[in-house]
Amino acid sequence: MRSDRRGVALVVALVGVLACAPADGPSTTGPRAGAPGIGDPDFPKDGNGGYDVSHYDLVIDYTPASKRLVGVTTIAASATQELSAFNLDLAGLDVREVAVDGAPATFTRQGDELTVRPAGPIADEARFSVKVSYSGVPRPIRDRADLGTYGFIPTADGAFVTSEPNGAKTWFPGNDHPADKAAFDFTITVPAGVTALANGEMSGKPTTSGGKTTYRWRERHPMVTYLATATLGKFELRQGRTSGGIPNLAAADPRFRSSLDRLYTTSAELTDYWATVFGPYPFGSTGGVVDDYAAGYALENQTKPLYGGFDPDESIIAHELAHQWFGNSLSIRRWKDLWLNEGFATYAEWLWAEHKGRRTAEAAFTDYYNRPATDEIWNYPPGRARPDDLFNDSVYSRGAMTLHALRRAVGDQTFFALLRTWAADHRYGHVTTDEFVQLAEKMSGKDLGALFDAWLFQPRKPSALG
Ligand code: ARG
Ligand code: ZN
Repeated sequence: MRSDRRGVALVVALVGVLACAPADGPSTTGPRAGAPGIGDPDFPKDGNGGYDVSHYDLVIDYTPASKRLVGVTTIAASATQELSAFNLDLAGLDVREVAVDGAPATFTRQGDELTVRPAGPIADEARFSVKVSYSGVPRPIRDRADLGTYGFIPTADGAFVTSEPNGAKTWFPGNDHPADKAAFDFTITVPAGVTALANGEMSGKPTTSGGKTTYRWRERHPMVTYLATATLGKFELRQGRTSGGIPNLAAADPRFRSSLDRLYTTSAELTDYWATVFGPYPFGSTGGVVDDYAAGYALENQTKPLYGGFDPDESIIAHELAHQWFGNSLSIRRWKDLWLNEGFATYAEWLWAEHKGRRTAEAAFTDYYNRPATDEIWNYPPGRARPDDLFNDSVYSRGAMTLHALRRAVGDQTFFALLRTWAADHRYGHVTTDEFVQLAEKMSGKDLGALFDAWLFQPRKPSALG
C-alpha cells in the first residue's frame, strides 16, 4: 500500500535510463529488475522498488532454547512496473525456497538483499504472491551505537521485537521501509507456556498440541514493517476495554508484575484522552507490553507499544500512544521527516502534563528555549533527521518546540483543529513536512514559512519566541 507511486516510479525510471544508456540507448519498457531500494536517499538499500505490498502472512515457529526460528512469509503485492526480478530485504537466516504465484522462483542473496527471479516476468500492475520459506537464528542489529540493539532480540524466555528503523528484515523478508504499509496476519507457534504477542487482535483462540501453542493475530489496518512485532515470553496479562470501549491488553514479564495494573489503566486513560484531542483512535485495540529486556528505549509497535526493561511512567505511555496517530496511522515517506513522529509524540507528553495540571506546554517550551545558544540542540535542524543520528534529541525536543511555536503563532483553536484535521486527512496514509506546513498555512491563513524555516531547518537557535 504505497501512495507515492509516481515519485518512486520516476526514480526507478531514471535509474533504468542510466543503467541502460551505454548499451543501446534509453529503454524504459519491457521487464526490468525492481530497484534494490525504495528511493530514500538517506537509506538507499532500505525497502525495494517495483512493487507495493498489500498483505504479509507471517507464519513463525520459534524455540527459545535453541533460538531457532522457522518461518514461511507469504506476501501479496502488486507490481508498479513490468518485473523480471525484484528484491526483498532479509538479514541473515537461510532461505530454503521461494515461490511466485505458486511456481518455484530462483533467488540470490547479497548483503541484506534477497533477489527473486520469477519463472516469467510479472506484468505492470499485476497482483502477485511471493512465498519465502526460511529458517535460522535471528540476529538483531547492534552495529550502530546511536540505535542500540533492535530487530528480533532473543531473550531468556522468548524474544523482544522492536524494529525501528530497519530491523524487520532480521525476522521476516519484506519491503522494509515505512513508505510501504500493509496489513498483517501472524501465526506464531511457541513452546506451551510461552505467550506470543503480535499486533492487532487475536484472530482465533490459541491452540495447543504436542507441547506447542499456536497464536493467531491480525492487524487489519495498514502498518509499516518496523512496527510489526512478535514479542514472545512468559507474560502476566490484563485484558478488558477502555472507558471509551476500545479493547485494551496489557502484558508484563513476571519481573515487572507490579507494572501491569498501572500500564493497563494508564494506557486506557491515554488512549481515550488522545481520541478527544487528536480524533478517533485509528486501530482496533490498544495496550502495551513490558518485557524483561533492557533496551533503553520503548517502541510504539502498532496497538502494542513495547517498553524495554523498565516500569513505564505516564509520560512515556503518553508518548507511545500518541504515536498510534502520529507515526503509525500517519507514516513518514522518508526518514528525514522523523520529527513528524517524534516531535508530535514529545509534544503529546507536554500536552499530557498540561492536561494533568503539572506543567504547561509553555513552561516546557521555555525550559528548552532557555538552553544556551551553544547547546547541541540548536545546531541539529530537526526537520531533516540525519541518517547517522536519526533519533537525536533535537528531532524529539526541538520538534516539539516547533509545534509549540506554531501553537503560539496560530492560537489554540486553530492549532488543535489543525492536529485533528492532519490526523483525519492522512489517516492510514503517508505524510511529509511540506504537507504539514501547507495545511498549517491554509488553516491559519498565515504565511508560516519563516517560522518553520527557523525551527526546523536552521542550524542555530531561533532568535524570536515567535
Ligand atoms: N520511536 C521510538 C520512540 O520514540 C524510539 C525508537 C528507537 N529505535 C532504536 N533502534 N533505538 O519511542
Ligand atoms: Zn517516539
